[in-house]
Amino acid sequence: MDSPSSLAIVIMAAGKGTRLKSQRPKVLHEIGGKTLLSHVIAAASQIVAPADIYAVVGHQADKVKAAVAATGIRFVEQLEQRGTGHAIECAREAIAGYENVVVLSGDAPLVKARTVAALFAFHQAQKAAMTLTSAEPDEPTGYGRVLHPSLGSIEVVGIIEQKMLARDQLSLREVNMGLYAFRTAPLLAHLDKLTADNPHGELYLTDMAHILHAAGERVVAFKVPDPSELLGANTMAEMMALDDALRTASAHRLMAAGVTIFRPETCVIDAEVEVAADTVIEPFVQLLGSTRIGAACRIRSYSVIENCTLADNVLVRQSCVLTGSSIAAGASIGPFAHMRPGCEIGEEVHIGNFVETKKAILHKGVKAGHLSYLGDAEIGANTNIGAGVITCNYDGVRKHTTSIGSDAFIGSDSTLVAPVTIGDEAYIGAGSAITKDVPPGSLAVARAHQVNKEGWVEARRARTRKQAEVGKPV
Ligand code: UD1
Ligand code: MG
Repeated sequence: MDSPSSLAIVIMAAGKGTRLKSQRPKVLHEIGGKTLLSHVIAAASQIVAPADIYAVVGHQADKVKAAVAATGIRFVEQLEQRGTGHAIECAREAIAGYENVVVLSGDAPLVKARTVAALFAFHQAQKAAMTLTSAEPDEPTGYGRVLHPSLGSIEVVGIIEQKMLARDQLSLREVNMGLYAFRTAPLLAHLDKLTADNPHGELYLTDMAHILHAAGERVVAFKVPDPSELLGANTMAEMMALDDALRTASAHRLMAAGVTIFRPETCVIDAEVEVAADTVIEPFVQLLGSTRIGAACRIRSYSVIENCTLADNVLVRQSCVLTGSSIAAGASIGPFAHMRPGCEIGEEVHIGNFVETKKAILHKGVKAGHLSYLGDAEIGANTNIGAGVITCNYDGVRKHTTSIGSDAFIGSDSTLVAPVTIGDEAYIGAGSAITKDVPPGSLAVARAHQVNKEGWVEARRARTRKQAEVGKPV
């Protein structure tokens, strides 16, 4: 392959995506948990440096730029979207210094780096001015069709868009997949010859095939056996089909690595999720973002785990929502636990049903079995949190932290009003409202003393009976 500086990659991403009927620009729709454009950028970045990738942006350009700015790619503005040929005209200055340019579509997110590399190698070997990628999908309708000078030739004389097809051309099966390599000099020398003489009144990049051929330049087709990775997301149905393809691929990637996934078609697994062997994923689980799961874990149905790290042997029972947190080996979570960002859950911790945690550090062996809120809290090893314990972390203005030592026992239904510190091995009586620090090894009880009034029920009955006899209201 050429040295990187002689190759630029242009990603056409300025279109509105009219057929999606959405307010959001097409390339910012998500499949497999990532925007269409970031999928394409990820593939392009494996071929050239980000500084040699140019995204043509137009419709809601600022939003599109902001969404992918962190990748370090460059942008070219296409203020008015006058077609794919016009998109490349707008990139003229950006690409002029490169020997070759590869053009990708921002709406074809399954494209693989190795396909782009293979196209470029073919383009170089063929010494072509333009190489387009073609395939014969089961359903060619909607795509541009590729015209050869004779049967079996790889040379191309033109591409005809669906709406321009003559009756006898409707049966043409070989379609343009929208992925091209050009030698920059002939491309720019003849780009001005594009006209908007077509049903959409647009400048079609596809017309360059005919223009270059007519100018005596070599135009060839790089035929791929499997068109699926070049499929576009032009309609919502196409978009969801691509999403399904990506997630199915994710599930198969994990299964090949030794993960058991029951009913994988019901699971939503993002492309970057990693899971180690012998972990079992039950039906209807979602594993999202940068989630990493260790070996021999079990993730039970209906749990949604996003941007979390789970070590080995973790059990997540049904219907847990876990976000932005880490869970150490041997912990068991749920059912129905809600873990908000910033939690660090230690080894063999048990978090039971209806326990909400946020920015909580639970050291080894902590148990919080039922109905608690633990927020902005650090809890020492082996401490037991009774049912219904609440850390009151918010005073209406600011958040405060609760610090609990190790081997402590927090009685059920206690409220710990932060900021407050409870020492090692301290006991809190059930139902206490703790507002002051509790020294290590002590018992704190902060509730009204219990009063038993013996015979009170009988005395009350006698009193009401008497009042009824004298006709007073009872
Ligand atoms: C295009 C090809 C068609 C091919 C198909 C493969 C043309 C004229 N047709 O059709 O031969 O079979 O891809 O998927 O190129 N864009 C811009 N600026 C514009 C217009 C479009 O940046 O002014 C971008 C779009 O955002 C999109 C890409 O270019 O990412 C392709 O445009 P789209 O309208 O989807 O073209 P297709 O109709 O799919
Ligand atoms: Mg398209």
